[in-house]
Amino acid sequence: MAHTNKIIVTGANGQLGWELGQLASVYPQYEMVLLDRSTFNLSETEKWEEMITSMQPFCIINTAAYTAVDKAESEQEQALQINAKAVVELAKICKQQQIHFISYSTDYVFDGKSTQPYHTNHPIDPVNFYGFSKAKGEEEVMSVNPNSIIIRTSWVFSSHGNNFVKTMLRLMKERDQLNIVADQVGRPTYAKDLAAATMLMVVALVAGKKIQGIYHYANQGVTSWYDFAMQIKYNAGLDCVLHPITTDQFPTPAKRPAYSVLDTHQIESDLGIQIRDWKDALSECQKSILSTQI
Ligand SMILES: NC(=O)c1ccc[n+]([C@@H]2O[C@H](COP(=O)([O-])OP(=O)(O)OC[C@H]3O[C@@H](n4cnc5c(N)ncnc54)[C@H](OP(=O)(O)O)[C@@H]3O)[C@@H](O)[C@H]2O)c1
Repeated sequence: MAHTNKIIVTGANGQLGWELGQLASVYPQYEMVLLDRSTFNLSETEKWEEMITSMQPFCIINTAAYTAVDKAESEQEQALQINAKAVVELAKICKQQQIHFISYSTDYVFDGKSTQPYHTNHPIDPVNFYGFSKAKGEEEVMSVNPNSIIIRTSWVFSSHGNNFVKTMLRLMKERDQLNIVADQVGRPTYAKDLAAATMLMVVALVAGKKIQGIYHYANQGVTSWYDFAMQIKYNAGLDCVLHPITTDQFPTPAKRPAYSVLDTHQIESDLGIQIRDWKDALSECQKSILSTQI
């Protein structure tokens, strides 16, 4: 099939999809086709094949996902439908039509019991249903289309969409005091940085470089939710008092892993990049949030 210079991005209104859209002008050589839920619904499998065949993209970047971690415990069928079944169908179509396929997964595929960063080939053992649905998607995608690329990421934030940074900023303005979990650690990820790394992957694929399989991407540095919140507060110059609490003191429908640190050496070496520290990325993100409020 003669492919075009088109790149389809699904989930275009999510954090990562939106950040990819912001990069369209940096890559004028590609035509980025941004599809949100209304134009490309992962649940409507029967509608895609014709659409994809007529567009003949070079690559599909699937950022759309069922991301409501707590709700997934009670909406298991929906989570599986989007994060596993639909993504696998998409991977199959890409295989049939020789289209590169990039999709995303999560640190929640691991059990959180490790004390060292999780390498990409560490055995998976999800602690919650969202993690289970993403793990199932990963396994089946790689089995039906081994050329796929799956990037696991963690603690994603952006100036666009819903995330911990924006929730903290809102709550710290509304309240005098907040309790924040201090015994879960991980690596925050600026969706803008992940989008940039994804585009470097596309460039490498266009150049004919063999890139496939599971990768990990997160900003450098390890932190707890409490220290993450403290940094957000510091950057914003807010007065709200933050109290560190334990996971047991903040029960949620879905369990969270205690240790959620991804090892990102593989992606850094394959793309020849050095990922920046989460504090630098956070500071840039908060400046961007501020600029949209002025
Ligand atoms: N956010 C995190 O902390 C985190 C952590 C680890 C991994 N990840 C993974 O990273 C990827 C990107 O996440 P993100 O943070 O950008 O997520 P996000 O902000 O929640 O965006 C997900 C997007 O998927 C769309 N979507 C949901 N159901 C859909 C459906 N049936 N059909 C089409 N679109 C649908 C949503 O549409 P609406 O806008 O219409 O709701 C939303 O725009 C996902 O694979 C996610 O699982 C995220």
